[in-house]
Amino acid sequence: MKSAFIHLASRHTSLVIKNDGRMPEVMYWGKRLPDETDLAPLGMTLSRPIPGGRIDSDTALSLCPELATGLFTSPGLEGSRNGSCWAPSFMVVDAEITPQSVTFTCRDKIAELSLVIDITLDEESDVCQSRLRLHNDGQTEYQLQRLSQTLPVKAQARELMYFHGRWTHEFQTKRMNLEQGAFTQENRRGRTSHERFPAIVAGQTGFSETHGELYGFHLGWSGSHRIHAEVMSDGRRFVQAGELLMPGEMTIMPGESYETPVLYSCYSPDGLNGMSQRFHRYVRQNIVHFDHQAKPRPVHLNTWEGIYFDHDPDYILQMAETAADLGVERFIIDDGWFRGRNHDRAGLGDWFLDQSKYPQGLQAIVECVKQQGMEFGLWFEPEMVNPDSDLYRSHPDWVLKTEGYEQVTVRNQYVLNLQKPEVFDYLYGCMNSLLSEYDIRYIKWDMNRELVQGTHDQHAANHGHVKAFYRLIDQLRKAHPQLEIETCSGGGGRIDYQVLSRTHRFWASDCNDPIERQSIQKGASYFFPLEVTGAHIGAGHCHTTGRTHSDGFRGMTALFGHMGVELDPVKATEQEKATMKKYISLHKSLRTLLHTGEHFRCDTDHQDTQAWGVISCDKKQAVVMFTQIALAEYALAAPLIIPGLDDGLNYRVTLLENSSGDLYMKQLPLWMEEPTIVNGALLAQAGLMMPAIQPESAILIKLEAV
Ligand code: GLA
Repeated sequence: MKSAFIHLASRHTSLVIKNDGRMPEVMYWGKRLPDETDLAPLGMTLSRPIPGGRIDSDTALSLCPELATGLFTSPGLEGSRNGSCWAPSFMVVDAEITPQSVTFTCRDKIAELSLVIDITLDEESDVCQSRLRLHNDGQTEYQLQRLSQTLPVKAQARELMYFHGRWTHEFQTKRMNLEQGAFTQENRRGRTSHERFPAIVAGQTGFSETHGELYGFHLGWSGSHRIHAEVMSDGRRFVQAGELLMPGEMTIMPGESYETPVLYSCYSPDGLNGMSQRFHRYVRQNIVHFDHQAKPRPVHLNTWEGIYFDHDPDYILQMAETAADLGVERFIIDDGWFRGRNHDRAGLGDWFLDQSKYPQGLQAIVECVKQQGMEFGLWFEPEMVNPDSDLYRSHPDWVLKTEGYEQVTVRNQYVLNLQKPEVFDYLYGCMNSLLSEYDIRYIKWDMNRELVQGTHDQHAANHGHVKAFYRLIDQLRKAHPQLEIETCSGGGGRIDYQVLSRTHRFWASDCNDPIERQSIQKGASYFFPLEVTGAHIGAGHCHTTGRTHSDGFRGMTALFGHMGVELDPVKATEQEKATMKKYISLHKSLRTLLHTGEHFRCDTDHQDTQAWGVISCDKKQAVVMFTQIALAEYALAAPLIIPGLDDGLNYRVTLLENSSGDLYMKQLPLWMEEPTIVNGALLAQAGLMMPAIQPESAILIKLEAV
């Protein structure tokens, strides 16, 4: 069959796929090619030589690399029919093509399998969205071990940036050069995980926030995953991503299919900012939909770190009144409101109001919160049960475990088997009745442990659990369309595009220490826009790190996100309250810009400083925050290069806020003392001199086109 090339094009990107009847292969993924480009010569110009010492025919690095072709890389598909059909080879039998998407149907008649490959290049954002579906056409079971998507990256993309972390320390990044072999990240925790956010970046050596060609990948899946980057012995490179299945977990019955999670990817010629801006645009247009004019993201107060399990309705009312006075717009009662929940060893599963704590019920509180002009929100952890609960006592068999083995506890709790219809219905019933009885506009949906040795129907339960969790949220949202949901999992343990498509924001971390938050929120910003990233002002003496930070620095760090407060406002000093009020009002004055503008991170000259900002879509206004994380190595920071401004515009540069009050310098940079107007190109090329500020403090700079 003669080669045919399919050209998918978006605003800035082209993806060219070879369709010669065999498994399709990406031949080019990069800057957009002119529309009229004749692609036929690619068959000549990119035809690969066949060197000595190799298979006698060319081996394609296809969208699902096949062992059958003699490609010795990690294959896209691993599985068998009790040992046979383990190395299938597919032919394309159909390709449905639109300017933005292609769906290939591929078939292997001998193995009796069909594979459907869907790829869409989003016109506006340049994000590529892809997924595979494997269908069992045969009469016997097909045991699937792994079905992953594979996309090639340019040979120059030798450097990887990957994510790691742990509880209270999410979204940390590391770099490595991949010269030979492979890098594989595997997450077996049954949730997205704090430890291994399902994403990777592969780019040319030394790529930075503002420079370098690179590719970003994120797997939208709230369960276990495997991400793999490999360099073949011939120098070709690729990234592969898919769900990680437990042994024997997935059997595709005759006539049935398995579908992979969606892989989101993009090419950026202009560094990590270019990548993030593409992903943010995609999220805003396709995953979460907010009308910021009609309803700005409300500022929260969450009771958790303020009162923990100590719930006294009168006191909670005082908290609500004080919160409203600070400018809070949504008041959320966290853990501790339901029966028996006096500590983290009991109560999960019994989703009924604790009458001993709330003898007058919840209605009076909900009403008071509303009268104060705030929305009311409530915490749930639906998937869990404590052994010390009425639910467990009456249904010990509802727990996810493997018969004959002792199930481990995590935070004194077990996971419920949501795949049992009676469990699903019980949870839906409890939540639906509370949501129907009270005017609850928001729930925080927590999940404080991993899945360990959970079996359902004789098989590992992980995949089915994630699906059942999605179904439960979907059903509740259908019944309560106005309800907003926060995804939380001990902080940032379940954050990904798939859960985000069902929720409205995520709790980035249980750590409210602003120093830690600087890196956590920066890490999250690679894939998520600010309006979905929960960022709270925590107590001065941070509960998870024991460090103490100034009111100003805490306020400043919480500005760049979906802002909230997480402390007891009643106990706050007058000065602390005044500072919170100031930062909440500053956030409100900036939030349209923060939540609709283009986010960027600056390349700073040293790791002890960090800077990021947001510029409005019309480029007429921007804010930039410069943070001194630790004591500076040099007495002077290099001028801050501010990317993304309009070269043709002049900007008035002013200091909008300074977290530490005093700036201990004999002389400030002159722009901080006198009105200064400067061209955007000068700020982007020559930069702006920063003051020498103290560690653990930040300044906020405003840029307005004149
Ligand atoms: C998790 C969450 C916290 C809080 C507690 C309540 O740790 O991440 O924000 O809701 O549970 O138990």
